[in-house]
Amino acid sequence: MTEERPKKEKSVFIRTYGCQMNVYDSERMAGLLKPLGYSSAETPDEADLVILNTCHIREKAAEKVYSELGRLKKLKAAKQKRGGDMSIAVAGCVAQAEGAEITARAPQVDMVVGPQAYHRLPELLARAARGRGDILETDFAVEEKFDRLAARVAEGPTAFLTIQEGCDKFCTFCVVPYTRGAEVSRPVEAITAEARMLAAQGVREITLLGQNVNAWCAAAPAGSAGDAQWRLGELCRHIALIDGIDRIRFTTSHPRDMDGGLIRALGEEEKLMPYLHLPVQSGADKILKAMNRGHTADHYRRLIDRIRAMRPDIAISGDFIVGFPGETSEDFEETIALVAEIGYASAYSFKYSRRPGTPGAAMPKQVADAEKDARLGRLQALLDSQRQAFNEGQIGKIMPVLLEKPGRHKDQLVGRTPYLQSVHVSAPKSMLGLIASVSIKGVTPNALAGALTKEGEAAA
Ligand code: SAH
Ligand code: SF4
Ligand code: F3S
Repeated sequence: MTEERPKKEKSVFIRTYGCQMNVYDSERMAGLLKPLGYSSAETPDEADLVILNTCHIREKAAEKVYSELGRLKKLKAAKQKRGGDMSIAVAGCVAQAEGAEITARAPQVDMVVGPQAYHRLPELLARAARGRGDILETDFAVEEKFDRLAARVAEGPTAFLTIQEGCDKFCTFCVVPYTRGAEVSRPVEAITAEARMLAAQGVREITLLGQNVNAWCAAAPAGSAGDAQWRLGELCRHIALIDGIDRIRFTTSHPRDMDGGLIRALGEEEKLMPYLHLPVQSGADKILKAMNRGHTADHYRRLIDRIRAMRPDIAISGDFIVGFPGETSEDFEETIALVAEIGYASAYSFKYSRRPGTPGAAMPKQVADAEKDARLGRLQALLDSQRQAFNEGQIGKIMPVLLEKPGRHKDQLVGRTPYLQSVHVSAPKSMLGLIASVSIKGVTPNALAGALTKEGEAAA
């Protein structure tokens, strides 16, 4: 007679670096491992499996992974000394870019799995258990990836939903086309099924994700009127029909793919939030050309004008790179002038980081680091003052705030305005997941402070 062995409880700790697409992937990896008996560990110390879901976008991001691997090496050795063990997997964009170099540099790593191959993690774990060393999986298998993922379990009232993977733009500074592969759009049916699954679990806000989310394009569902091919505007309107979904966002958009249909949807579809992340990178045409962005600064200005004409209250956010090769102080002044003209509600700005294998890395006239620092400092001061002014402009307004998570203080919740600003509100936990009416009272460096209106309190 064979004795029934109790199923051993295992746990996984996933650390996520980089963009929202990695956040989405980490959640899906956790979902994939659950049926194999892996619960989520709070810290790497107690985990049987540690996954680093990595980012390769700038040198610093990639280097962080190796310092974390150094810490994990010690942890693993200590555990092994006590008779235990710990497996280490490197996933994400560093895994894709560096592949076997990772295990060569960090032999404590058991598995390397790229961003379009992590659905094969269960097989990799089985192979690792059989002691097959050097486990590397870096195929681009986007369609298979989404088909093989387990059902989703919502983690709160907001959720990310990847609709598009990869990038064909090849900006000369960027690693993404190499780490994520070619642009692939998921079909409408798969996206709406996932959105419905999330709505049924109480998700109220969905953020559609893609490195070039507005390049999304797929066949219209059978029997639908209108164009045979849908673009993002149509998809957003379609998702807006799902009961329970009250807010839709999408990120990241590329200026070249902002078509009229999407701009009209931003103006007409109330569930589309008035916030648009539209990176421009630089305000100088010479630099935009060298970056292979495929548009000029004036094209970007006209685009913003058209979007604001359709949705006057829209909050614009952007990404900027200072010190791209060949950027002179005059070129940089053009970036400052563009920022002053557009007025950003929020923005991310970076010093150019030379990435191996990208065309920018080999360009002449690299800018000195001290110069990059000075330019970044000036740009960030301007962007900070714009963000502060935008936030202060909300004081006295009453806004619908989606209450997303508990705050640091007792009876405090943190939510988001339609413009994606964080708001701290005194409200009972029972209101989590509601869209409450909140009066904005003040601003702190990173958030707004608000109070429930009488109407909002009535909902409590
Ligand atoms: N797909 C998005 C963003 C991708 S990466 C887009 O096209 O806008 C996010 C941001 O990182 C970029 O917008 C850019 O500002 C920054 N970035 C990318 N590569 C970089 C590099 N080599 N050095 C510095 N910043 C970089
Ligand atoms: Fe990178 Fe450019 Fe593609 Fe964005 S559009 S992911 S910046 S190559
Ligand atoms: Fe980083 Fe990869 Fe995202 S390089 S920004 S994690 S697509």
